[in-house]
Amino acid sequence: MEFAEAKKGKEYRIRNARLTDVDQIIKINRLALPENYPYYFFVEHLKEYEAAFFVAESDDEVVGYIMPRIEWGFSNLKQLPTLVKKGHVVSIAVLEQYRRLGIGTALLQASMKAMKEVYNAEEVYLEVRVSNLPAINLYRKLGFKEVKVLRHYYADGEDAYLMAAPL
Ligand code: ACO
Ligand code: ZN
Repeated sequence: MEFAEAKKGKEYRIRNARLTDVDQIIKINRLALPENYPYYFFVEHLKEYEAAFFVAESDDEVVGYIMPRIEWGFSNLKQLPTLVKKGHVVSIAVLEQYRRLGIGTALLQASMKAMKEVYNAEEVYLEVRVSNLPAINLYRKLGFKEVKVLRHYYADGEDAYLMAAPL
């Protein structure tokens, strides 16, 4: 799956991630977020959920990524406890110089489409710091709602919103 987009004169392309992208994905993750993971964690997610794992390329380098997982679990949206297949956005980040160009939106849209069409997931969820307004706004724009607050979810004590959307 490939898309070409341009905003503010900067062009970028969304494509499925490859194993050779992992070093750059790890670099972006460490620059952008305090939640970091070992090399094998990225590789395992890439191998398992390759069709929903995307990167954005601009100026011939990877400038953003979305790392997903597919899980069976209780619905975050239905009233009654129901087991459903869910997409889980484990991590998404864009290099600072490439933010506000629509790349985060394009990555999340591409991954949500694959979660639904390739993996037959019914809904998608994620956790986000309650202070992370850029990310919360992005998720709201794509139909996510705050479902609950997870107290002291992060290592530094900050709360998370669990946000979810139908697919
Ligand atoms: N302030 C307010 N709203 C913002 C901001 C901001 N700084 N940045 C994005 N948004 C909202 C806006 O509604 C924006 O739409 P608009 O530009 O039309 O107003 C919308 O999000 C979409 O913005 P994009 O340009 O598509 O998003 P971007 O490419 O900048 O990526 C991201 C957003 C991934 C959150 C980026 O800011 C980033 O990498 N942040 C650091 C890492 C991070 O916080 N990741 C999410 C952690 S939670 C998790 O991974 C599950
Ligand atoms: Zn998570």
